[in-house]
Amino acid sequence: MRAFSAVLLLLLLHHLFVSPTSALDFLFNSFSNITNATNLTLINDARLDGAAIRLTNDTNQFAVGRVFFPKKIPMKPTSNSTSVASFSTSFVFSVLPDIASSPGFGLCFVLSNSTSPPNSLASQYFGLFTNTTVPFVAPLLAVEFDTGQNPEFNDPDGNHIGIDLNNVDSASTTPAGYYNSTGGFVPVQMRTGQNVRAWIEFDGSNLEFNVTVAPTNVSRPSLPTLTYRETKIANYVSAEMFVGFSASKTQWIEAQRVLAWSFSDNGVARDINTTNLPVFQLVSPSTSLSSGAIAGISIGCVVFVLILASGFYLYWWKKRMEGEETDEIEDWELEFWPHRFSNEELREATGGFSNDQLLGSGGFGKVYKGTLSNGTEIAVKCVNHDSKQGLREFMAEIASMGRLQHKHLVQMRGWCRKRNELMLVYDYMPNGSLNRWIFDKPKKVLGWDRRRRVLADVAEGLNYLHHGWDQMVVHRDIKSSNILLDAEMRGRLGDFGLAKLYEHGEVPNTTRVVGTLGYLAPELATVAAPTAASDVYSFGVVLLEVACGRKPIKMDAAEDEEVLIDWVRELYVRGRVGEAADPRIKGEYEAEEMEIALKLGLACCHPHPQRRPNMRDIVAVLVGEAAAATAPAALLSELARGDSSVGGGDGCSDEESMEAAPLQLRQPSV
Ligand SMILES: *[C@@H]1O[C@H](CO)[C@@H](O)[C@H](O)[C@H]1NC(C)=O
Ligand SMILES: *[C@@H]1O[C@H](CO)[C@@H](O)[C@H](O)[C@H]1NC(C)=O
Ligand SMILES: *[C@@H]1O[C@H](CO)[C@@H](O)[C@H](O)[C@H]1NC(C)=O
Ligand SMILES: *[C@@H]1O[C@H](CO)[C@@H](O)[C@H](O)[C@H]1NC(C)=O
Ligand SMILES: *[C@@H]1O[C@H](CO)[C@@H](O)[C@H](O)[C@H]1NC(C)=O
Ligand SMILES: *[C@@H]1O[C@H](CO)[C@@H](O)[C@H](O)[C@H]1NC(C)=O
Ligand SMILES: *[C@@H]1O[C@H](CO)[C@@H](O)[C@H](O)[C@H]1NC(C)=O
Ligand SMILES: *[C@@H]1O[C@H](CO)[C@@H](O)[C@H](O)[C@H]1NC(C)=O
Ligand SMILES: *[C@@H]1O[C@H](CO)[C@@H](O)[C@H](O)[C@H]1NC(C)=O
Ligand SMILES: *[C@@H]1O[C@H](CO)[C@@H](O)[C@H](O)[C@H]1NC(C)=O
Ligand SMILES: *[C@@H]1O[C@H](CO)[C@@H](O)[C@H](O)[C@H]1NC(C)=O
Repeated sequence: MRAFSAVLLLLLLHHLFVSPTSALDFLFNSFSNITNATNLTLINDARLDGAAIRLTNDTNQFAVGRVFFPKKIPMKPTSNSTSVASFSTSFVFSVLPDIASSPGFGLCFVLSNSTSPPNSLASQYFGLFTNTTVPFVAPLLAVEFDTGQNPEFNDPDGNHIGIDLNNVDSASTTPAGYYNSTGGFVPVQMRTGQNVRAWIEFDGSNLEFNVTVAPTNVSRPSLPTLTYRETKIANYVSAEMFVGFSASKTQWIEAQRVLAWSFSDNGVARDINTTNLPVFQLVSPSTSLSSGAIAGISIGCVVFVLILASGFYLYWWKKRMEGEETDEIEDWELEFWPHRFSNEELREATGGFSNDQLLGSGGFGKVYKGTLSNGTEIAVKCVNHDSKQGLREFMAEIASMGRLQHKHLVQMRGWCRKRNELMLVYDYMPNGSLNRWIFDKPKKVLGWDRRRRVLADVAEGLNYLHHGWDQMVVHRDIKSSNILLDAEMRGRLGDFGLAKLYEHGEVPNTTRVVGTLGYLAPELATVAAPTAASDVYSFGVVLLEVACGRKPIKMDAAEDEEVLIDWVRELYVRGRVGEAADPRIKGEYEAEEMEIALKLGLACCHPHPQRRPNMRDIVAVLVGEAAAATAPAALLSELARGDSSVGGGDGCSDEESMEAAPLQLRQPSV
């Protein structure tokens, strides 16, 4: 009897102290009957949309949406504890872009200490993470279902799953798919709108994630797609966390939906009944035909709607073609992406290309300001071109450029062709170009802090072009007038790839030289092909230009001051490089910091392309990531050699002539 009560007592105690006080176990087989306030916490763009949760808003260019279960789940007994709770979850999602070839975004399943993680960026990184330059440890843990490829974050492809420990640069990734009963890997395309079911098992005692994805008509695979086991996971877990989903996007439409969700922190999550889930599909002329046939099984009204829709589509298309009074659309033009604007649309936006809207004109043609019917401000660059053949090749290139996305590049929104005139549509940059802020506004001159930030921004943008994409993009025409300032006065690089147009055909009002005098690397005089190193050279000229407040070539100066680089080199040789700094910003900087900038500029302008630093190293110095001691050794040596050509008037010879005093590279104080 006594033994029995002892056992009972033990059992009771066990129950009190070991098992969770209240297990959380929920199943949303649909979201149609949910009252948001009591059942879900919707953040920013997230909303209930029929039976599903829609995470982003199509019209919002900086879209971010998150949805969480309203109560935090207990993950650790105390925040210091290493004992972490387990959970199991399963959900069905659908990712459907408007344009299949546009950049992809995807969504995340997330555990977070806060429903709005601090420093998360809208429009980028699933709306969860900050930039990668600050990978601090924070309680934020996500499983990404990524439908886009960011090579700078080591994404294997544009259709993968990954584990993110407070960092968009995943700790582990693998292509999306599942292992079938015979162990064969079957890929799953997540960006077709098809319903994809995911299972996530998290074992807190072993700190292990198992993630599995499969289409909803496939039963649960026995092997997980991805297993990730690391003790450091515990660092990213707080005592209590919200669970939910997050997604973000830029101006390209991608509907990220969650259709059903099951969760348990006390055993395996209940099965979702997938029989009656809605299906979202891409509507394109070819698929609407076949889906019309399928719809015949259900009710005729679906077919009717489809016919109506495609009729409207054809009508609209015809209208648009008619609007093109001057020119036919060639087949090849329809293949290109990004968005093709109609001539009418752009004419309307720019007030008939009126001179009042003229932002500037240059070698390429004219640039107009415009406002689209939805109120978006744009800049329209009109480029004349002689040969249609060249134009076609060029368009293929522009189309691929249009996919480049970086916050320090001026984003291209689309294009339009009228005969041999090409119109490129960009985001409008309200603060104009950098050179105006340095040279044309003597009263309200740009301060050093801003200048330095803009330089760092542009370096990051250029680094992305050089190293962040699957193929290297050489800008070819870096100069201060191609650097634009957005509403926040942050720098953005414009016109990337445009200089290549010169090669495809003659452009009026320009010489045959690709690039701009004063910014051209010396090797381009003999070797025709521009390289990343020649971009670095031009960037160095811009750096010096901005730090010194002087144009690269000063026409009216005394003979020995004509070329900016030579002048700075000369001062450097005499040990007075600091004197090159713009006198108008005197006192705004620390001498040491300015010297580093000037020396970096000189290193970039090294006459030998192989000896110039690369953009990665330059970013590290300008962004202040590389601490003094850890600045890349190669860069240090380049800096030390950067002066070796000093005094060489032609900038190309006697590299061994001078023994440089070792340069000291120290960290600019941020
Ligand atoms: C949702 O609510 C409607 C009426 O409000 C009801 O007819 C329907 O059965 C509910 N569906 C579910 C899945 O509870
Ligand atoms: C919940 O829905 C109601 C109306 O449907 C809306 O007014 C309210 O803003 C929503 N709340 C949240 C947190 O989204
Ligand atoms: C939604 O919240 C209401 C009120 O708290 C609750 O009765 C209902 O069961 C919840 N629905 C689900 C699916 O959890
Ligand atoms: C999307 O955002 C726009 C503007 O921010 C807003 O007017 C619109 O109502 C939103 N759409 C939806 C479906 O929430
Ligand atoms: C957690 O750890 C910190 C130092 O690591 C310590 O100061 C604090 O007292 C600990 N808290 C608990 C609840 O153990
Ligand atoms: C988690 O959030 C709570 C407030 O909700 C806060 O007190 C706590 O410091 C946060 N923990 C961490 C590690 O950020
Ligand atoms: C990264 O984000 C942090 C905080 O959000 C910010 O202070 C820092 O300037 C950012 N770095 C870059 C290079 O944008
Ligand atoms: C499993 O996948 C492999 C390769 O994808 C395939 O060859 C095999 O037929 C599949 N087995 C079954 C049972 O579906
Ligand atoms: C993850 O999958 C592996 C292999 O199937 C299995 O051995 C392990 O127990 C699983 N872990 C969890 C937490 O489900
Ligand atoms: C699941 O559906 C897709 C598309 O409807 C089909 O191609 C595939 O064969 C189906 N798989 C199974 C196992 O039924
Ligand atoms: C799933 O739902 C359908 C109809 O909504 C129902 O007929 C079916 O029995 C359900 N399946 C399970 C396993 O509950």
